[in-house]
Amino acid sequence: MLSKTIETALNDQIKHELYSSYLYLSMSAYCEAANLGGAAHWMRGQSREEYGHGMKFYGYIHDQGGRVTLQALAQPPAEWTSMADMFQQVLEHERKVTSLIQNLYALAFKESDYATQNFLQWFINEQVEEEKHATQIVEQLKMIGNSGQALFMMDRQLAARAG
Ligand code: FEO
Repeated sequence: MLSKTIETALNDQIKHELYSSYLYLSMSAYCEAANLGGAAHWMRGQSREEYGHGMKFYGYIHDQGGRVTLQALAQPPAEWTSMADMFQQVLEHERKVTSLIQNLYALAFKESDYATQNFLQWFINEQVEEEKHATQIVEQLKMIGNSGQALFMMDRQLAARAG
């Protein structure tokens, strides 16, 4: 069973995860418009993954006898100045999500909610991966600089994302 405080915080996190999905879908649309099909594919995969994160919280609240209440999502940005700028925003967004997950964990710890702490472990590990992947892409885009040819190759690499 969830306390009201934890239930509210988990519901807030559904919103953050679904907003992440929405943000990455907007990034995918930006990439489509820029003829970067590989990056658009990567972002669609990322968007699906974030939807999946939101649904993990959705399922967990129900498993614990809680009530899911969905909230309004903000409109995501639609334009970025470059691929490098866009992926920098991905990294910064993921860092923000990491701190939200850590705050949730701290709250569950404070409330001695062991089940929620255990549930959140998966997200703590996932955020390490998310930040690692975003950092790799940001650093590779820095190496590329203004080379159109290298960007083309990078786009092909992003097209290989499986999920
Ligand atoms: Fe669900 Fe990328 O954090």
